[in-house]
Amino acid sequence: MSSTAPFTVAIDGPAASGKGTIGRAVAEEFGFAHLDTGLLYRAVGFQVLRGQDPIQAAQTLKAEDLEAGDLRTAEVAQAASKAAAIPEVRTALLDFQRAFARRAGGAVLDGRDIGTVIVPQAEAKLYVTASAEVRARRRYTELVGRGDETTYDTVLADVLTRDARDAERATAPMKPADDAVLLDTSDLDIDTAVARALDVVRARLP
Ligand code: DC
Repeated sequence: MSSTAPFTVAIDGPAASGKGTIGRAVAEEFGFAHLDTGLLYRAVGFQVLRGQDPIQAAQTLKAEDLEAGDLRTAEVAQAASKAAAIPEVRTALLDFQRAFARRAGGAVLDGRDIGTVIVPQAEAKLYVTASAEVRARRRYTELVGRGDETTYDTVLADVLTRDARDAERATAPMKPADDAVLLDTSDLDIDTAVARALDVVRARLP
């Protein structure tokens, strides 16, 4: 493949479905750039928790905001999900994501609306899911591993609240694109899930 041709892999799905791990693995395998778009919304959520207006935070987001603090907490995730329901927040983050997606040499973006809104023309689209219980178990293990004090029930409730908010919002709701390949990772180990995703992408390479 020509190193200048755009080739976008869109990976969408709910929290803790495995899309981030799959996105990184796809990027590494094919030498594509990778953008975890959830991080943009988390950076906005982080600024909101500090008292900033969400729209202003999104419109003035800078690269250093992505490293401003711990963006991986449950509190930041909920603030991100709330800010992400505001149309002006999404609009402010659109151009950056689109430019990243069409950069020369290929790009992988993971998020909620990549295949539906950000890059509907993406060459490969995956929608990665897993049951809420499996996702909550994964996220619980991850949070406890980082030293956060929480319970499985709290994490499950957080996952369900975020799923509902992200899927039911009016603007760019989380949903599979019509032409996305569905990958349910509930009963798959990560190596198998990654192998399936790599097959999907490989089949679409020029
Ligand atoms: O992928 P994540 O859990 O880091 O995302 C955090 C929140 O950001 C998620 O609950 C909804 C929002 N988000 C979004 O609305 N659109 C995206 N493309 C990515 C994330």
